[in-house]
Amino acid sequence: MSDFPPAHIELREITHAYRTAAGPLPVLDNLSIRMTKGSFTAVVGPSGCGKSTLTRLIAGLMLPDEGQVWLGGELVRGPRSTVGMAFQNPVLLEWRTILKNVMLPLEIVPNTLSTRAREDRAGELLALVGLEGFEDKKPSELSGGMRQRASLCRALVHRPEVLVLDEPFGALDAFTREDLWQTMHRLRGEEEFTAVLITHDLRESVFLADEIVVLSGRPATTQYVLKNTLPTDRTLEHLYTPQAAEMLADLRHQIQIAQGRVPTTEAAQ
Ligand SMILES: Nc1ncnc2c1ncn2[C@@H]1O[C@H](COP(=O)(O)OP(=O)(O)OP(=O)(O)O)[C@@H](O)[C@H]1O
Ligand SMILES: [Mg+2]
Repeated sequence: MSDFPPAHIELREITHAYRTAAGPLPVLDNLSIRMTKGSFTAVVGPSGCGKSTLTRLIAGLMLPDEGQVWLGGELVRGPRSTVGMAFQNPVLLEWRTILKNVMLPLEIVPNTLSTRAREDRAGELLALVGLEGFEDKKPSELSGGMRQRASLCRALVHRPEVLVLDEPFGALDAFTREDLWQTMHRLRGEEEFTAVLITHDLRESVFLADEIVVLSGRPATTQYVLKNTLPTDRTLEHLYTPQAAEMLADLRHQIQIAQGRVPTTEAAQ
C-alpha cells in the first residue's frame, strides 16, 4: 500500500470554504499532502491561493469542511502543543527580554522544567542561532533578522514535533534572508522536527526543502510535487548549479500554470 513510509503529517482530501458576506469562498479543493517524519516540505503557490489556510489547518486552529489532517497518526481536532509556528511578523512582546520571549511557550505548554532548565533551553537555542549575548535585550533593540531568529527559537523551545513556518523570511532583505536559511539548516541538524514552510521564494524552497509542493490557484489543490535532488549538506553555492537552475525553471513554470499564465494545451504536456 502507499502508506509506507508512514506519514508524520497527512492532509487527506481537504476541501474548505470560508463563509463570507458574499457567500462561500472555496479555498482548498480536495488537497492531499503527505510528509514523513523529519522531512522538510516547502509549499509554494499563487498569492491568496490558500497557503496560510493550510498552516491553520495543520496547527488545528481551524477544522476543514471536508477531509482530515493527521499528525503522528492522530486526527487533528483542535490546537495542539506539539506544533511550533513562526510567521512573517515575529510578534515578540516588547515588555519581555529576548530570553523571556523565547521561554514563553514553556509557560503555556504543560511541562515539568524548572525555571533554570527553561532558561537553559531558551539560551541554548539562542546560541544556536547566533544570538548569544542578546538574551537580556528588548525586541526593539534587535534588527529584523535577529528578531526573526528569536522567533524561530520561540517556535522550537518546547521541542515541537512539527514546525510550521508561514513566510518567516519574507520581510527580510536578500542577504539577511540567506543568513537565516543557513541558520534554519543548522537548526534542522540539531533539533528534531518535521517542517512545513510556506514561501514565495523559489530559491528558498530549493535551499531548504526536501520536497516542494506547488499549489494550484484558488481553490487550491496539489498541482505538482518536486523532489529536491541537491545534496542534503547543501550550501548557497549549490543554488548556482545547473541542477538547481533546472529545478527553479521547473517550479517557475508550474507557478505560471497555477497563475493561469500558460495556455492549457501547453500546461497539459
Ligand atoms: N478568515 C477568513 N474569512 C474569509 N476569507 C478568508 C479568511 N482567511 C482567508 N480568507 C481568504 O481566503 C483566501 C486564501 O487565504 P490565505 O491567507 O490562505 O491565502 P495565502 O495563499 O496564504 O495568501 P498569501 O500568498 O497572500 O499569503 C484569500 O482569498 C483570503 O482573502
Ligand atoms: Mg499567506
